[in-house]
Amino acid sequence: MEYLTFALGKGRLANKTLKMLEQIGIFCEEMKDRDSRKLLFVNEELKLRFFLSKGPDVPTYVEYGAADIGVVGKDTVMEEGRKLYEVLDLGFGKCRMCVCGPGSAKEVLQHKDLIRVATKYPNIARDYFFNKKHQTVEIIKLNGSIELAPIVGLADVIVDIVETGSTLRENGLEVLEEVCPLSARMVVNQISMKMEHERIMKIINDLRELMGKDLRKPKASFTQGGNHEDH
Ligand code: PRP
Repeated sequence: MEYLTFALGKGRLANKTLKMLEQIGIFCEEMKDRDSRKLLFVNEELKLRFFLSKGPDVPTYVEYGAADIGVVGKDTVMEEGRKLYEVLDLGFGKCRMCVCGPGSAKEVLQHKDLIRVATKYPNIARDYFFNKKHQTVEIIKLNGSIELAPIVGLADVIVDIVETGSTLRENGLEVLEEVCPLSARMVVNQISMKMEHERIMKIINDLRELMGKDLRKPKASFTQGGNHEDH
């Protein structure tokens, strides 16, 4: 039997994913050693391999087949635009991709002026403004702390992830438009899906069944988190 390799985006998403996989009998003891500097973890018995990478690299590993399965935020799937199958919404890491800015920017958005948009997600921003809103904007790529951009005058608005909204509130900004909802997704390499169809479908079906059970639980016990470290 060949190894089935999982690529997980580092951070909160990975911890939640590992917990979820453990509940369907997919686990790796080796990974629990927090002091380890190892990058690739193996479960010989189940013929499984796991590695953690930066979120945006997960779709790359999966497209090239270095990983058969990946778990990453929908934001990353959209931004990277890699050739892969998105097979499952894992239902956690829920947040929203939004256009945000000071309240005063609402009007410039409506007038469709040539505004500046700062973002860590230039492809998502471009698709939203150019293809959906038919508005020409200047997109400025940043790598983090995006909320700074409208405060210091780099951009009129930002396209960024909003989970609780507290970063916006604390910086005097607000959601102006919603681009799309986000959550953790399972993605699969297109060839692996054919070659390892049975094993991969079993994982997908087991996860679906597990999520069905979770959804039937009383609401208070169904906790959800963000996927910040992933983007
Ligand atoms: C993300 C995102 C927002 C913030 C939203 O940033 O880019 O800044 O979280 O979360 P909230 O609505 O719960 O406040 P992250 O913490 O990943 O850091 P970054 O700014 O460096 O991307």
